[in-house]
Amino acid sequence: MLNPTITTERLILRPYQLSDAPRLRELADSYAVASKLARLPHPYPAGEAERWIGTHEALRASGTGYPFAIEHGGDLLGSIGLEQSETGEYELGYWLGEPYWNKGFGGEAAHGILAFGFGRLGLPYVRARYIADNHASARVLAKAGFLTTGRSRKLHIVRRTEVDMVHLVLVRDAFVGGESSAKQVYNAA
Ligand SMILES: CC(C)(COP(=O)(O)OP(=O)(O)OC[C@H]1O[C@@H](n2cnc3c(N)ncnc32)[C@H](O)[C@@H]1OP(=O)(O)O)[C@@H](O)C(=O)NCCC(=O)NCCS
Repeated sequence: MLNPTITTERLILRPYQLSDAPRLRELADSYAVASKLARLPHPYPAGEAERWIGTHEALRASGTGYPFAIEHGGDLLGSIGLEQSETGEYELGYWLGEPYWNKGFGGEAAHGILAFGFGRLGLPYVRARYIADNHASARVLAKAGFLTTGRSRKLHIVRRTEVDMVHLVLVRDAFVGGESSAKQVYNAA
């Protein structure tokens, strides 16, 4: 099983462990975070962190998803992953706990996982979606080289209203920074 750890200048992207669950829950239980994401439940239920972490091994084993904990200086900052969407294409998803926003960690983590996706996984392209009012995510994706492909409307469960979704794609050759920019370590399963 591919069970990777990715290191960037300041971050370690590594598989989640059950011991991350209490801090994961604290960071995820935030309206500011959940209102920007399509699938994070809010309020974040008790036991959800443990349940979610428990799905990761099967995702990695089947190659349908590569979820990572984002760690900095021993602290859990948030999550990032590449996961196959309903079309079978890989999509980038990520979030950081609010205390860690606007320090460049989101862009750095995105860079690391994209280097892994294009390098180790050999993906020809990666898709992403963000809610149109999410300017920070728009910026992170644009800086990596993503281009907008279209828009859609979606009912947002946490906001209880419809939102505009922006759809994007990044093809391998357009990845700003290149595949060798993050160091990737593949642990034994
Ligand atoms: C999206 C997210 C991961 C970005 O992480 P981050 O560490 O704050 O991102 P970075 O610091 O690397 O970059 C953010 C960029 O957006 C810019 N930005 C932040 N807020 C902004 C705003 N309201 N309007 C315009 N630009 C904004 C920053 O200036 C920075 O741009 P720069 O690199 O040119 O200076 C983080 O905000 C987050 O977790 N949000 C909640 C969950 C989420 O939105 N996930 C993505 C769903 S698609």
